[in-house]
Amino acid sequence: MSVHISAQPGEIAKHILMPGDPLRAKYIVENYLENAKLVSSTRNIFMYTGTYKGKQVSVGASGMGCPSIGIYSFELFTEYEADCIIRIGTCGAYTSKLKLFDLINAEYACSESTYAECAFGWKKKDRYKYQGPAFDIINATAKELNQPLIEAPIHSSDVFYRQGKGKPEIVKKHKAVAVEMESFALFSNARFLKKTAACLLTVSDIIATHEKISADEREKALAPMMKLALESVLKM
Ligand code: HPA
Repeated sequence: MSVHISAQPGEIAKHILMPGDPLRAKYIVENYLENAKLVSSTRNIFMYTGTYKGKQVSVGASGMGCPSIGIYSFELFTEYEADCIIRIGTCGAYTSKLKLFDLINAEYACSESTYAECAFGWKKKDRYKYQGPAFDIINATAKELNQPLIEAPIHSSDVFYRQGKGKPEIVKKHKAVAVEMESFALFSNARFLKKTAACLLTVSDIIATHEKISADEREKALAPMMKLALESVLKM
């Protein structure tokens, strides 16, 4: 047991899919995993372990933002046997080149967040890369599945309700194509701990036009991302 996760030692798989929303974790488990068991529900942050096509995998929620995913991913990496966390989330598109439902494999996460500096004393960088082999395995798996996938830098914002028009400076600096709120902390933790981390994002809204995937389109919209993440885990 760790501070924020009540799973027993050995109850978390080496490979973990991490949506932000606990109910999405539940949905994935109910629809894609076999023999699943709820192993932690502290703060209603549900974590399950089951099998996909015979391979053991855990699905655990991160909550929203760098502080939250920072806690859960750090504890999973350091207090359980987790080797690889694949975040599966949604993002807002900064560019009209992206369409609703497009799928992104995050190459870098840039951020104004102080997470990496506060946690590890890393002052200089404002972006971190995916870590380990998962990114390449996901790209190869997407090709095999004929699943279009965009490899691109993204922005991990600390702020959802941001005032002011135009793209934040950091977005221009790093040519980030989309915004979410977690990958910067996940990639930093994995980098520090020499673990594997990747982030798949489905475009759920277009910032400029306020177009959005509706609530009832969401589960269906996320199916290709979940399938890609699970099929990729089979190769790890
Ligand atoms: N901003 C931040 N995070 C997000 C967004 C957004 O517009 N859409 C989905 N996740």
